Amino acid sequence: MGKRTVIAGLDFYVPPKVVTNLDLQKMMNTSDEWIRERTGIIERHWAEPGVGTSDLACQAALKAIEKAGLDKNEIDFIIAATLSPDHYFPGIGLMVQAKLGLKDIGALDIRDQCSGFLYALSVADQYIRTGTYKKILLVAAELQSANLDFSDEGRDMSVLFGDGGAALILEADDSGDGRGLLGCYLFSDGRFVNELWMEKPSSRDNPTFQPEFFRQGKFFPRMNGRAVFKNACEKMPQAVLYGLNQLGLTVADIDYLIPHQANDRISQMVGRSLKLSEEKVIRNIQRYGNTTAASIPIALAEAVQSGLIKKGQLLALTAFGSGFTWGSAFIRW
Ligand code: UT7
Repeated sequence: MGKRTVIAGLDFYVPPKVVTNLDLQKMMNTSDEWIRERTGIIERHWAEPGVGTSDLACQAALKAIEKAGLDKNEIDFIIAATLSPDHYFPGIGLMVQAKLGLKDIGALDIRDQCSGFLYALSVADQYIRTGTYKKILLVAAELQSANLDFSDEGRDMSVLFGDGGAALILEADDSGDGRGLLGCYLFSDGRFVNELWMEKPSSRDNPTFQPEFFRQGKFFPRMNGRAVFKNACEKMPQAVLYGLNQLGLTVADIDYLIPHQANDRISQMVGRSLKLSEEKVIRNIQRYGNTTAASIPIALAEAVQSGLIKKGQLLALTAFGSGFTWGSAFIRW
């Protein structure tokens, strides 16, 4: 069977401050009823000023390292997935390296938004299976609450997002017991760049930062919610079916589907379109909102910790988001 990538440690961290729909109702023109009905979200966590995305990643990483029972000096590579880095450049992977006091190992940032975790997992898998690196720290973290538009123009997005991070320690396993990552399948279609994006800052503008861009709200994330919704409902099931086909498996083999937590209605529709019963679709958006790259590993960590996921079960992960990018991954737990 050869080497497989396995998860030796996994955990997540969300900042302590909980923001409910009722809190949002006081800040902007929205309602608890609208948010629950259209998204399924009840509350989310927001970081305090002074906390950066790399801090959320570090908190999760410390817990994952402990879960793996690892000496941090054994980590030989870092992969970080985020669309909300502490700085425009450099990325957060190297900030995690410094903050955790790791050796001068390589740190790679992945920019594939809601699909970032799947892209990161896929890259880690190549390094692990080829033996290039032995213990990879993968972090996926987002801090979106610091840049949301609470006006009517931005309210479709500002009610969705939450902050949080997750971390995994990945290593090789050649025991042949069938456990581990079975495959990752990645897709993109860049024709849809401006359906879900943060338009500015842009290198096409000279100078990049212009006062009118602030006045026009161009530094806020924007999306065409309906187009994103429709494509997410189509592409995630397609990616799952594609991966199952590549692996010679069927939907009946899936024990749990962990979709990117974009909107609870999307997750339910993806489950339905795959003809999976409701209890097989893991959903925690109610309590965390959409944490973009962190959403799948947070849901995975929570489901493992609660005892829902058991050894030998087949997990199908799927994501869709800005780009558009989408994909699937399959793990035998
Ligand atoms: O991670 C991937 C990124 N994002 C997603 O996957 C999100 C995908 N899209 C969605 O989840 C949904 O499109 C939304 C939840 C964002 C919006 O739901 P919708 O059912 O598509 O609503 P809509 O955009 O068609 O808006 C319906 C109405 C509009 O009012 P009018 O024009 O009918 O009077 C909006 O202005 O709801 C209004 N609206 C709101 N009302 C209260 C939009 N946002 C809000 C809000 N509170 N937060």
